[in-house]
Amino acid sequence: MIQPVAFLQAAASPLVEHRVADMFKPLATPAHTVFDLSLLVMGITAGIFVVVGGLIIYAIIRFRHKEGGDPDEPPQIYGSNQIEVAWTVIPILIVFALIGVTARVVAGVQDQAEPPGAIHATVIGHQWWWEFRYPDYGIVTANELHVPITTGPGEHPTFLKLESRDVIHSFWVPQLAGKTDVIPNRENTMWLDPREPGIYFGNCAEYCGTQHANMLLRVVAQTPSDFADWVAQQKQRAAVPTDPQLKQAQRTFDRLSCIACHAVRGTPAFGVVGPDLTHLMSRQTIGAGVMENTPANLRAWIDNPQAIKPGCEMPDMKLSDQQLDQVVAYIETLK
Ligand code: CUA
Repeated sequence: MIQPVAFLQAAASPLVEHRVADMFKPLATPAHTVFDLSLLVMGITAGIFVVVGGLIIYAIIRFRHKEGGDPDEPPQIYGSNQIEVAWTVIPILIVFALIGVTARVVAGVQDQAEPPGAIHATVIGHQWWWEFRYPDYGIVTANELHVPITTGPGEHPTFLKLESRDVIHSFWVPQLAGKTDVIPNRENTMWLDPREPGIYFGNCAEYCGTQHANMLLRVVAQTPSDFADWVAQQKQRAAVPTDPQLKQAQRTFDRLSCIACHAVRGTPAFGVVGPDLTHLMSRQTIGAGVMENTPANLRAWIDNPQAIKPGCEMPDMKLSDQQLDQVVAYIETLK
């Protein structure tokens, strides 16, 4: 009777999933400012569209050749300083107004002072997954960024440092903030302060190779107490199996080259090429969102990742069925 328990646990802390990453429904301050700016820009450009389109339609109707009308051309006018100055100066003023408000919004988001109590995380883009490190807590996880919600002004927003291990990526969770590029040998910063608990979907927004479209990310915004629970759980080292079969399974895992790329804190595995697996089973997906994290999917993934995410760094390890069973059994203990 494992399933009813799992179901009850899920029901106890329901997090709304914002699967449609809708930038028109902002739920954090940076996204709000970008949204408000986009409304202003759309308002101005829509006004221009209506004026220009209206004049064209007026000219088409008003000056249409009519049956029995005047066969001669209308009087030809050459040059008009007034009109030429107007159509040069007005667009320049509009462009400068747009530059001004955009620069103000960008600077306002970028220059946000960090309040005491801010959460810090480092985002590292990899081909093709996201690494999230929390230097203050010693936590390393992947593809699902946990942050506390903000309930009052300036209350524990999350400040992110963005780095890349390989090529240019872009971190984008449309409901929370604008895109920020993730550039090798450069450190960019951004921040977010989700207002409502929920799981916000995002993705890499800069083409970074064949699996760019499978470089998905989630921001799990939790109440401060749920976030504290998550931190406490993630800080723990991997549980040591006591069951003899699982002990054997761990030995198998530790002898395979899995540990050259993956870390399981508290074990001989401390690779840094692939995602940290210490608490893999607490994550919803594997392969940066390519599939749900279920035992069957996990087995299929380890068996042949190249069939699921062609080109990804994880090779087909050619494990025997027995090795595969043991590796999956061990990884399932990493809650
Ligand atoms: Cu990373 Cu596109």
